[in-house]
Amino acid sequence: MIISIHRKLGQAIKMKNSTVFDATLIELPIVHNKSGNITAVNQSQEVPFAIKRVYYLYDVPGGTSRGGHGHKELQQLIVAASGSFDITLFDGKVKRTFNLNRPNFGLYLPSGLWRDIDNFSSGAICLVLASHEYDEKDYIREEEIFINWKMLN
Ligand code: TYD
Repeated sequence: MIISIHRKLGQAIKMKNSTVFDATLIELPIVHNKSGNITAVNQSQEVPFAIKRVYYLYDVPGGTSRGGHGHKELQQLIVAASGSFDITLFDGKVKRTFNLNRPNFGLYLPSGLWRDIDNFSSGAICLVLASHEYDEKDYIREEEIFINWKMLN
């Protein structure tokens, strides 16, 4: 489902009992110009959380799978700034796959979801806006532990 960020404002999801259906594709604005486009991501307008970190994956070899972990608290907005890739989310019960292939769409991930990222196209750039700075303690890297953590919450 694609919805406007304006409907998400003030509703940032920070839930241990999140489901894959809380993940949302957010359409980002485009400033069109005959010499190219600009998409700006403003914290108070396009992102339903305060941005503490920006990072990006690039030079990902073909056939590589990234992610393979869950986050307890981290919220993210993930954009295919270039190229395309698939993000498969898992909430302990249900899996849901999104194909990201346009730089003016971001996938909002609430906390408490497992993610696998694969099918990277050549030259793909996975741009991530994150609600927290890097903290290894926020990761759950074993799927079985993640499933148990979800069941306890
Ligand atoms: P990880 O988040 O597991 O990568 P991915 O989900 O893309 O496969 O991180 C891989 C390594 O990079 C890990 O050792 C921690 C390091 N890292 C940082 O130092 N800072 C960061 O902001 C991120 C995202 C990762």
